[in-house]
Amino acid sequence: MRNIFLVGFMGAGKSSVGAALAARFGYRFIDLDERLCERFEASILEVFAVHGEGAFRVAETDELAHCADEQGVVVATGGGTFCIGANRKIISESKSVSVYLDLPWEELDRRLAVDNSGRPKYDDAGQARSLFEERQPEYRHADVVIALAGSESPDEIADQVLQALGEEAPCAI
Ligand code: S3P
Repeated sequence: MRNIFLVGFMGAGKSSVGAALAARFGYRFIDLDERLCERFEASILEVFAVHGEGAFRVAETDELAHCADEQGVVVATGGGTFCIGANRKIISESKSVSVYLDLPWEELDRRLAVDNSGRPKYDDAGQARSLFEERQPEYRHADVVIALAGSESPDEIADQVLQALGEEAPCAI
């Protein structure tokens, strides 16, 4: 059973789509950020503030590797995970499928304006847009790119992912 790693910018809906996809496949859902919060026994904001981004990234790569070793999981990664070459290598070498939820900046901006608390990589719209533009080429390394408008429900997006994967049984993806 090949695992599925959802990648994309903050606010792309990786966690809600991941949960919908996992339910569809009968896979287990893992939220990488939640794993990190459990590991540090702290919120993401606290981890960045107390331990620094460097320590967060080291732990993120370690937890990602654990996820890649599991079977039959859908993983919602963090917005920065797939932008690190070593993390992309872990995903591709585990023969997992990476799926980029590709939303237009305008939609991400709208969502992040409403919900940016707890996000240490968000300062303001201008900074976030630069980060998005810097990261987009990295996200495009994903095996599958799902172009979205932002109005789709998690279930509709799960359908699109299934179609893009060829509507095959999960074990045959
Ligand atoms: C980050 C995004 C966050 C979280 C951390 C770093 C980033 O995840 O991993 O704050 O570098 O963009 P979400 O994309 O789920 O917000």
